[in-house]
Amino acid sequence: MWLYLNDKYVEHDKATISPFDRGFLFSDGIYEVVRFYPPRGFFQVEAHLERMRYGLEQLRIKGIDIGRIRPIIEELATRNGHKGAQAIAYIQATRGAYFPRQHFFPPPSTPPTLLISTSPFKPHAEEIEKGVRVLLEKDIRWSRCDIKTIALLPNILSRQSAVEQAACETIWSRDGFITEGTHTNFCAVKNGMLLTPRKSNFILSGITRQVVLHICRNLNISSLEASINESELSGFDECMIVGTTTEVTPVVKINELAIGNGMPGEMTRRIQKELYRIIAGN
Ligand code: PDD
Repeated sequence: MWLYLNDKYVEHDKATISPFDRGFLFSDGIYEVVRFYPPRGFFQVEAHLERMRYGLEQLRIKGIDIGRIRPIIEELATRNGHKGAQAIAYIQATRGAYFPRQHFFPPPSTPPTLLISTSPFKPHAEEIEKGVRVLLEKDIRWSRCDIKTIALLPNILSRQSAVEQAACETIWSRDGFITEGTHTNFCAVKNGMLLTPRKSNFILSGITRQVVLHICRNLNISSLEASINESELSGFDECMIVGTTTEVTPVVKINELAIGNGMPGEMTRRIQKELYRIIAGN
């Protein structure tokens, strides 16, 4: 499998990263996951790269040329033979390697590390069709969740809870308000209106979430970015989790609470259908 590491394409078993890389020592970096759908290719690349640019700016990581990334993921998809099947590109940038370990930034001459890979991806067809159960836990993350940082321990722990309790995902609440899932954004439907937590420093501004809001405008579905209190969950007609790998997945149960009639709802189906139409590019 080919990777792109710093300035070169390398076979994965020849790729090396310094033990002093700040990504390894401090999680001092950001990442993106972009979906590849043949025959159209990478989906929403510009939006992903724009979010990456924002993250790099916020963390003051310099020296990554965002404009180089699109041709690199295209080249990797070709080299790794994904062109006929679904795949994902993983893009990670860190503040680079520096010794001795120090919390403050290394000298500006320290080059950042850029690692890009692509891998085959099997869509979660059954979950998307039948709907899933999610857990609800407390959001213990920091208050800059708008940055897609590689510091993912709370996400890992909450996702593991889901795995151990036969759920698909964990959604979080902070001070009683729903934020998002460990790797998804949350949407709900009430009386024909789509609701999703408003953009803030407590959620990642998901690309799929943006596409879903765009779909609502296209289909004349009213939508509202609003605060969603945990206590409102029991009154929702439909719920969904949305994200690059999850697409639009119906949520039919939260902990032991059945949502709506316990089956994927009609609005969720309309949004899914429109998403696939957009992905197919027609
Ligand atoms: N996760 N919220 C969080 C915390 C995420 O990590 C993600 C994406 C999303 C959805 O964003 P988008 O629609 O841009 O993928 C929301 C990626 C897919 C991951 O960690 O693998």
